[in-house]
Amino acid sequence: MDSTPSAPPSEPTGADHRRGLFKPGDQVQLTDAKGRMSTITLQAGKQYHTHKGSFEHDELIGSPEGVVVKTSGGNEYLALRPLLSDFVLSMPRGAAVVYPKDAGQIVQMADIFPGARVVEAGVGSGALTCSLLRAVGDSGSVHSYERREEFAEIAAKNVRSFFGAEHPAWELTIGDLAEKLVDEEVDRVVLDMLAPWDCVDAVAKALVPGGVIVCYVATTTQLSRTVETLRTHGAFTEPQPWESMVRGWHVEGLAVRPDHRMIGHTGFLVTARRLADGVTPPVRRRRPSKGAYAADYAAEGATPAAGSVADPEFNEDGTVTSSVARRVLP
Ligand SMILES: C[S@@+](CC[C@H](N)C(=O)[O-])C[C@H]1O[C@@H](n2cnc3c(N)ncnc32)[C@H](O)[C@@H]1O
Repeated sequence: MDSTPSAPPSEPTGADHRRGLFKPGDQVQLTDAKGRMSTITLQAGKQYHTHKGSFEHDELIGSPEGVVVKTSGGNEYLALRPLLSDFVLSMPRGAAVVYPKDAGQIVQMADIFPGARVVEAGVGSGALTCSLLRAVGDSGSVHSYERREEFAEIAAKNVRSFFGAEHPAWELTIGDLAEKLVDEEVDRVVLDMLAPWDCVDAVAKALVPGGVIVCYVATTTQLSRTVETLRTHGAFTEPQPWESMVRGWHVEGLAVRPDHRMIGHTGFLVTARRLADGVTPPVRRRRPSKGAYAADYAAEGATPAAGSVADPEFNEDGTVTSSVARRVLP
């Protein structure tokens, strides 16, 4: 039997910034007695200033997480490394980010596995990219496409800042996914953009049989068009749309109840699987309910009836443009 001790496996990218004693370069989330948070990056010899005095970063360097630091004016702060869910909500943003609750759903329902080859568009601020990179690990690949260079730059900074280094599994391409996604074979595709239906053809060519597409859209009109496009395309299984809601709870003595406030809406998710080439999808047994498709209904590729909103134009945040709103509202 070979008793030679094997070398310890090298740490996955970013893991050294997630545990152990605080060291220079680590991000630290400071929470005061009122629950207000701020994030600092530790630097030897630097001070953190507040309206009630300051403290030296050196007081934290070498300490374990979960310690309390006191400013010269007596303010106390709990010091913890920000979790990924904290980081994405406080990092600089270009476009709106995928919320942590949805990122969790995407990683799970798109079945993002270690070593997977994933394509993502658009990259926006890079929030979802961080979750995807974590899930595929150093041996996988995440190829992100973003058509706006200024957003890509913000995302690149955020991803680097979160992992504390360039991630070996990440590639970022500037441009429109529908045009740039060629000659790539991938296991999973995640679309978070205004018009995912424009990319469905390109995605169908890139996805392996059995591969998963997940689309994240903000509005019901986008949801409808995404589902109908996937359904009528022919290369995909019946799309599965859903949304998730997370409600926090207040638990204090006898006062145990849901929080009064919650994030009521973020977006809708749709998944579908790539069929093998040449396979005709099984016929849907369930007929659409009567009236589901009105006479003027326009599926992808058909001409919408004059004045209908089957083919609306969208703003960047997913709302319908005011010209469309004027057409349909009295
Ligand atoms: C809501 S943001 C994405 C946010 C990102 N998922 C995150 O978590 O930070 C949508 C982005 O998609 C980009 N985009 C829209 N259509 C695109 C396309 N066809 N190809 C590449 N990027 C696209 C937009 O420029 C925008 O930055």
